[in-house]
Amino acid sequence: MQVRVRIRRYDPAQDQRPRYQEYVVDAEPEDRLLDVLNRIKWEIDGTLTFRRSCAHGVCGSDAMLINGVNRLACKVLVRDLGSTITVEPLRGFPVVKDLVVDMTGFFKAYRAVKPWLINDETPPPTERLQSPSERERFDDTTKCILCASCTTSCPSFWSNPEYIGPAAIVNAHRFIFDSRDRGAAERLDVLNSREGVWRCRTIFNCTDACPRGIEVTRAIQDVKRLLLTERV
Ligand code: SF4
Ligand code: F3S
Ligand code: FES
Repeated sequence: MQVRVRIRRYDPAQDQRPRYQEYVVDAEPEDRLLDVLNRIKWEIDGTLTFRRSCAHGVCGSDAMLINGVNRLACKVLVRDLGSTITVEPLRGFPVVKDLVVDMTGFFKAYRAVKPWLINDETPPPTERLQSPSERERFDDTTKCILCASCTTSCPSFWSNPEYIGPAAIVNAHRFIFDSRDRGAAERLDVLNSREGVWRCRTIFNCTDACPRGIEVTRAIQDVKRLLLTERV
C-alpha cells in the first residue's frame, strides 16, 4: 500500500513559520509509523528530524502527535492510521527542529519531585522488605517511560507551562507511596505549591494519552487526597 504522510516541518534557525510537507511512501499494513518515518529519512529526505531509540515502546523518545493524538511512533501500525497520516510535534514544548521538542522544562519538573528513593535510616542487614500489598500501592506508576505524552496532552499545561504536569506527579507518586521511602513530605511540599497538583482540573487527557496504560488521573487524585487528609 501507499501512504501519504503530512509532517509539520519547522527549523527555527531558518524558517519564518512552520509548514507541512507531504511524502508518499510504500508501506506494509503491519509497518509501524516509525518504520515509515525511518524510510522517509533514510531514502527520501535526510533533513527530516525526529527522536527515536529503542523502537519497542520502552525508551519513550518517539512520542509525537499522530493524527491529532499523542502516541509513540514505534507502537502504532500504519493499517490503523488511514491512507493520510498527519504527524506533528508534541504540543506545549518549544520546537527544536521538526518533530524534536525541547524537553528541558519537562525534566526540570521531573527532577523537582526528587524521583529517587529517600531514606537516611540505617539500612537493614538484608533487603528493605515490602509486602505485596505495599508494592501494589505504587506498581502502576513504576511503568512510566517519561515519554511526555501525558503532560503535552493536558490543557492545563498548555495554558500554563509552569504547571508541574502529570508526568512529574506520576513519578512523585511512585516514591510517595513506596513504604521504604521517607521523602514524601519534601515531594508533597512541591506538589502542594502554586504550580503543583491543584492546577489539574481532572480532564483525563493524560490517562487517555499514556502509552503504558498508567491511570495517570487516578495517581494525581491519590496525591490530592493525601494532601487533603494529611495536611489539613
Ligand atoms: Fe508517558 Fe505515561 Fe509516563 Fe506520562 S505517565 S510520561 S504518558 S509513560
Ligand atoms: Fe491535565 Fe490530566 Fe489533570 S489532562 S487536568 S493532568 S487529569
Ligand atoms: Fe523507544 Fe519508541 S523508540 S519508545
